[in-house]
Amino acid sequence: MVKKNACVFISGYGSNLKSLISNSRNQNFPINIKLVITNNKHAKGIIFAKQNSIPILIINTKKNSFENDILREIRKYKISLICLAGYMKIISKKFINNFGKKIINIHPSLLPKFKGLDTFKRVLNNNEKKTGCTVHFVNDKLDGGKTILQKSFFIKKSDNIKTLKYKTQKLEHRAFSEAIINIYRYD
Ligand code: GAR
Repeated sequence: MVKKNACVFISGYGSNLKSLISNSRNQNFPINIKLVITNNKHAKGIIFAKQNSIPILIINTKKNSFENDILREIRKYKISLICLAGYMKIISKKFINNFGKKIINIHPSLLPKFKGLDTFKRVLNNNEKKTGCTVHFVNDKLDGGKTILQKSFFIKKSDNIKTLKYKTQKLEHRAFSEAIINIYRYD
């Protein structure tokens, strides 16, 4: 199997990055992570990338040309899949078109419910019975691209923001990799 080169974008802790790195060590997993990009120089995920000798690009989103800087780097590494793993920055339509290949995102809700931020709080306030996560293709609408897969669980009366986050992220770590396997199933 010829693995695809992937780049993971992060802004924070990087637990999804960590699980992708770990799964990508399997020779049957369809991607190798060649580059990690972050807009946050303090992102904990940088440590995981360093421990695995994956190059890291820290971008300054105040710079007008930052998306061009990303594109240049991505071309250098012949990236054919971008995985947004807790990247808290909106990607422009121009970037999506210029990259022209697959971009996928993981979101901590059952889309189309609860797009955007503060999902766990909104899920609880809305008295939802179920919640979970969604892996979807990225288009120019916020959290609006085609769903690849979702995983869900029933919410208990005793759940709070912390427990919902913990349960959702546990599912995310499986969902992201399964979605990538699905994408390349017939390649
Ligand atoms: C994940 O739960 C992901 O779903 C969420 O950020 C977290 C990152 O965690 N993404 C969004 O909310 C995007 N709208 P991680 O840094 O530990 O992977």
